[in-house]
Amino acid sequence: MSTDSSERMTEGAETILSASDLSVSYGKVTALKDVDITVQKGEIVSLIGPNGAGKTTFADTSMGFLDYEGSITYRGEEVADQRQSNLVSEGLIYCTEDRDLFPFMTVEENLQMGAFRSRGSYEESLDFVYDLFPRLEERKTQEAHTMSGGEQQMLAIGRALMGDPEMLIIDEPTLGLAPVIVQDISEAFDQIVEEGVTILLTEQNVIFALDHADKIYLLENGSIVKSGVAEEMQGDDYIRETYLGG
Ligand SMILES: Nc1ncnc2c1ncn2[C@@H]1O[C@H](COP(=O)(O)OP(=O)(O)O)[C@@H](O)[C@H]1O
Ligand SMILES: [Mg+2]
Repeated sequence: MSTDSSERMTEGAETILSASDLSVSYGKVTALKDVDITVQKGEIVSLIGPNGAGKTTFADTSMGFLDYEGSITYRGEEVADQRQSNLVSEGLIYCTEDRDLFPFMTVEENLQMGAFRSRGSYEESLDFVYDLFPRLEERKTQEAHTMSGGEQQMLAIGRALMGDPEMLIIDEPTLGLAPVIVQDISEAFDQIVEEGVTILLTEQNVIFALDHADKIYLLENGSIVKSGVAEEMQGDDYIRETYLGG
C-alpha cells in the first residue's frame, strides 16, 4: 500500500468526478439507484460490489455512454452535456472490463490507438508504459489476440495510459487473472498512482481495492450501502463478514 494516501486526500480539494442522486435503468431493470460518489483530484477511489451490482454501469455512465437521471459531472460539467470525444480529450480515460483491444493489431499499434486524442508526449507515454510493463515492449510486434489474458490486461491498461489520463476509470482489472498476474498488475498500479493520476477503480476483488484505494464505496443492487476511507472500511464488520470471509 502506498504511504502517502492521507496526503493525497487532503490535497484533493478539487472535485473531478461527482455523481449525485444518479439513477440508470436498462428498460425496466434499474441498475443504479440514487448513487452519490465524489472523486477528488489525486484520489484513488474504489467502487466495490458483487457481480451485477452496477459497477460497469457506473463506469459507462461516467463516460457518457448511458442515459441517466440525477447528475454526474466531470470537472464540474454535466456528462450528458459533453461529447464523449471531448471527455477523452479532457483526460477522462476508460479501461473497460472487456479490454476492447484491437485483436489483429500489434501491441504497439494498440498503444498508438490509445494516444489518438492525447495532449501528452507520445514518446514519453510509450517509455512509461514499456517501463511499467516490459513484457509489452518484448512483444511489441505481436498481434494482441496472441497474448495471454494477463498480457492483454497489461496492454489494455497501457493503452489507457497512452491517453495521458487526468482521471483513469479502470473496470475490474484483476477479473479472471491468476494471482501471480494480479501481483504484477498491483505493482504497476502503485506506479500509476505515483504519477498522480486520479483513479476510479471498480473491483469485486475487495482485497485489491482495500490495498490500493483511499476511499471505498460499496455498491449492492445498484445502491451505495457503505462508504468511507479504506482503513475504516477494512475494519467494518459487514465488509469483513460478507466480502473478506470473516
Ligand atoms: N445492456 C444491459 N441490458 C439490460 N440489463 C443490463 C445491461 N447491462 C447490465 N445490465 C444489468 O444491470 C445490472 C448491473 O450490471 P453491471 O453494471 O454490469 O454490474 P457489475 O459491473 O457490477 O457486475 C445487472 O443486473 C445487469 O444484469
Ligand atoms: Mg462489471
